Amino acid sequence: MPLNWMDLNDIPLEALLLLEKVQISWIPNNISSETQTALGTCLRAKPTINWYLSHKCPDIHAWLENILQSAPQENDPVKLRQAELLVLQSMMDWIVYVWDPSIYDKQPFLLWDSSELTNICDFSGKTVVDIGAGTGRLAFSALNAGAAWIYAVEPVGNLREYMLAKAKQRGFANFSTVDGLITHIPFEDQFADICMGGHVFGDDLAAELAEMVRVTHKGGWVILCPGNNDYDNALHHFLTAQGFQYGRFEEPQDGWKRKYWKQK
Ligand SMILES: C[S@@+](CC[C@H](N)C(=O)[O-])C[C@H]1O[C@@H](n2cnc3c(N)ncnc32)[C@H](O)[C@@H]1O
Repeated sequence: MPLNWMDLNDIPLEALLLLEKVQISWIPNNISSETQTALGTCLRAKPTINWYLSHKCPDIHAWLENILQSAPQENDPVKLRQAELLVLQSMMDWIVYVWDPSIYDKQPFLLWDSSELTNICDFSGKTVVDIGAGTGRLAFSALNAGAAWIYAVEPVGNLREYMLAKAKQRGFANFSTVDGLITHIPFEDQFADICMGGHVFGDDLAAELAEMVRVTHKGGWVILCPGNNDYDNALHHFLTAQGFQYGRFEEPQDGWKRKYWKQK
């Protein structure tokens, strides 16, 4: 189902110039063939944006050249705008993170009951790593539950800045942000009492879990909240086979989700 976090009608294609290198690197694997054609058409019409994407993230230079060559030229401004909207829609989450993270922070699905997370284990006095922290939905719940220090791992710099401002505004000095990926968490083995993530686990199950487990000390907790939709899918079978317990909770307007937890 397409995201509907913001009205894109007034957003120019130039919003792509705000994307960060890591987000640009994700484009080729996250775009349908229809959107790929639309992107090629848009970039033919706006070569400066192509230049930016290609130079900011040389890894996708060859891919961009390829889609440019095969994309039709579009001279009708109405059809060109339709192509732009298709591209912007396909990247709505990434655009929101760099355009205005408060748009994500106001989504109704984030209003789930924080005790769904904080009742899993005792956060009090704990060192907690939050992977793919976004605007800090899990991180600030853990701080409210008495965590000693939160390390919010987030690859998008604009979100790291947003969380830092939020922590300052809320008077939390025990909060740090750090660049990193769920497959490359920038902490030593057994660094954390709790390693958690929400809406981030699932592209590379074994590698992601191994990295979360690595940074968690023996007796600590690995938590995914939410970690899945409410399905018995491959992700669910993988986690339960690894000994994770699970529960269900409702995200307002977005339905039932599953959370998973395991003590190391
Ligand atoms: C849907 S948001 C979830 C944010 C927050 N955890 C929550 O539950 O509201 C996903 C976040 O994970 C980050 N992200 C995406 N891919 C990632 C990866 N491979 N490793 C770490 N974080 C990632 C995104 O930048 C984004 O902030």
